[in-house]
Formats: sequence, structure tokens, C-alpha cells
Amino acid sequence: MGLISKFMALIPLLLLLLLVSDATADATSGVFDITKFGAKPNADVTQALADAWKEACASATPSKVLVPKGTYQLGASRLKGPCKSPIELLVEGTLQASPTDTEGDGLLVMEYVDHLTLTGTGVFDGQGKAGWEKNDCHLKKICKKLPMNLKFNFITNSIVKDITSLDSKNFHINVLAGKNLTFDHLKITAPENSPNTDGIHLGDSEDVYILNTAIATGDDCISVGYTNRKITISDVTCGPGHGISIGSLGKYKTEKEVVGVTVKKCKLIGTTNGVRIKSWPDSAVSYPASDMHFEDIEMENVANPIIIDQEYCPWNQCNRKVPSTIKISKVSFKNIKGTSSTPVAVKLVCSKSHPCEDVEIADIDLTYSGKQGPIVSECANVKPKISGKQNPPICAKPAPPETTPSTD
Ligand SMILES: *[C@@H]1O[C@H](CO)[C@@H](O)[C@H](O)[C@H]1NC(C)=O
Repeated sequence: MGLISKFMALIPLLLLLLLVSDATADATSGVFDITKFGAKPNADVTQALADAWKEACASATPSKVLVPKGTYQLGASRLKGPCKSPIELLVEGTLQASPTDTEGDGLLVMEYVDHLTLTGTGVFDGQGKAGWEKNDCHLKKICKKLPMNLKFNFITNSIVKDITSLDSKNFHINVLAGKNLTFDHLKITAPENSPNTDGIHLGDSEDVYILNTAIATGDDCISVGYTNRKITISDVTCGPGHGISIGSLGKYKTEKEVVGVTVKKCKLIGTTNGVRIKSWPDSAVSYPASDMHFEDIEMENVANPIIIDQEYCPWNQCNRKVPSTIKISKVSFKNIKGTSSTPVAVKLVCSKSHPCEDVEIADIDLTYSGKQGPIVSECANVKPKISGKQNPPICAKPAPPETTPSTD
């Protein structure tokens, strides 16, 4: 073969290489950087984010909205689907709420998106301090609700990864009607005395995973509300705050059952509760709460490490005399170790009219080193199946007639 024909033979290969590099160029042009939409550091980027999202969401191929490094101000934002293709919101910078703006229900509300990825090392900063001082929702039934940091409404087959939620004015993350949703490796932080700053709250959802996450806040670490199925919480560290909670259940007529919650390999540090199921007396509805499993949990200085409280009635908002009609069954607490900061380390107070059923308790090893007496358990309307270590002895004596009212 002559030199020329050798070169000719290479042409198809060269063409192929050109085509491949062209395809790569197309994929990178799927990035919608908010700074190309007018966003500038230390300025309000609400409109730029909305514009970048709108174009990305209309893209026929997978797209990415980028918030690059830097600090930006954000007003109440709503990013809506459905989008034409999978979409990613990559936040590398800090998105800061106005400390005084209390408009909208969320700093960022994302809704009706399928195949969403929200990721990055960025921060959603709710700047909640000024709002917390005004907030009295933990004291009253009717109050002005402050915006949450992140709301996910009707989000499906999606992943939220790596981001930080800081000082939310209200809940940090709220999930409504999510399906196949994973929260992985998040960091959620607010001070211990900040009211209503629940870490992650789930409602009306199915197949939700909360994994490898650290939550320090002033209210529940994670709360699994009513109407939820197949929820997995694993490798989560909580504290300070009020611990991991299922409930409160039974307050509203529209509530439906909670079935299938697994909490495993979690650590609670200095929280007011460890793992808890709570329902209101004089419930507005009646439904089952079942298949709830807590295992391999470490407690460090936790006030109520293990608690079922069917007399949950903070601030006397209800009639304690009428028992809860939420039927709790198929519950297990297994391999729970560590320290309790109060003598009542295990409290299982079930409903008189709807006693708990199929409760299994195995390998509980908790200690209390305070001066208020020996470590004990308190039980009512429950006959658990007990095995393994029993520290304290489980349901060894009946509960006292009057239980201390909860305040959170
Ligand atoms: C759940 O969502 C993930 C992330 O988008 C996706 O990879 C997976 O296929 C989904 N699972 C189902 C059963 O649709």
C-alpha cells in the first residue's frame, strides 16, 4: 500500500473520532449554568435559577442546572416538572434565604419531577434565626407558618445527595407524595433551641430511603408522618434534637395507614427521644400502623431511648381521657445499646381501646447513671415478646396510672 492509500484507509477512523468528540460537546452543552442566565455572586438569583430550570426542563436530552461556587441570595422558588428528560440540579454554591422574608412555603420547592438528581457540595441556608424568635407554632394551633428550606412534592425516582441544609426557618426538608426517593449523605444543621426545625419529614410517600446522613436540629431528626409505606432509614446520626419519630398519628381525618418503616444502624446523641412511635388520644381517625422495625441503634445520653406513646398530647391540645384509635402492631426493637439520661429508658404506653400487638423486644442494653433511681421500663396495654439481654427489665411492672405529659 502506498502512503496515500494508507492515509485514505484512515479517513473513516478520523471521521468516527470527529463524530465521537462532537457527541461529547453535545452532552456538555446540556449544562445550564445560572451565571449564563444573569446570576451574579452576592446578588438575588431567583429569576436566573427559574430561567435556567425552564430551559433545562424543556431539553429533550438529560440536562443539568448548575449553581457554581459562590454565595447567592434566593427568594421563594418553585421549580416544576414534568421535564422532558432526567434533570439534575447541581448546587456547588450557597443559596441564602433573606433572614426577614417569610413569604412562600419553601426557599426551594421542587414538584412533579421524575428522575431528578439534586446534588453538590452546596448549602441551602434558611437564615432562620430572626424567624425562630417570632415562631410560636410549637405553642399554638393557629400561627403563621414560616418557609421550609426544601420541599419535594410529587417527586419520583429521584436522588438527593451530598447537599447541606442549614438553619431552616421551619422544617429543613419536607417530602409530600414522593415515590422511590433516596436521600443520601446529607448534612442538616440548626441549633438545639430552634423551634420546629425538623430534619426530614415524610408524608404520603412510598419507597423512601434516608441514608448516611447527619442531622443536628431543634426538633425531630426524622419524622415519618401519616400515610407512608416502605420507608428505610439507615446509618443516620441524630443530635441534638427530638430523635426519630413515627407520628404523630391520628390528629387529622384525612390520615391513612403507616406500613413498613425500618430504622437501622442509627446513632442518637443527646436527643430528647431515641426511637419513638406517637399517636394522639381522642384520634380523629382509626387506622393501622404496622411493620415498624428498629434495630442496631446506639443511644448516647438520650432521654427516652425507646418509646411508644399513644397518649401524645403536647400543650394539652386534646382530650387525654379518650384512648387513641391508631392500632399499632408488628413492631420490633432489637439490639439497642447505650446510655439513657433518665431512669425510664423503655416506655411502651399503648392505647387502652386498641392495645399494641405483636411487639418484639430483643437485646436491649441501656444504662442510666443518674441519681433518680434504677433504670426501668414502663408499659401499658402491651404484652411484648422478649428475648436476649434485658436492661432494663422489660415490662416488669405495670405502668403508674398517671404518665407525665409530653411537651414536644
Ligand atoms: C428508582 O429511582 C432510581 C433513581 O432515579 C432509578 O435508578 C431506579 O430505576 C428507580 N427504581 C424503580 C423501581 O423505578
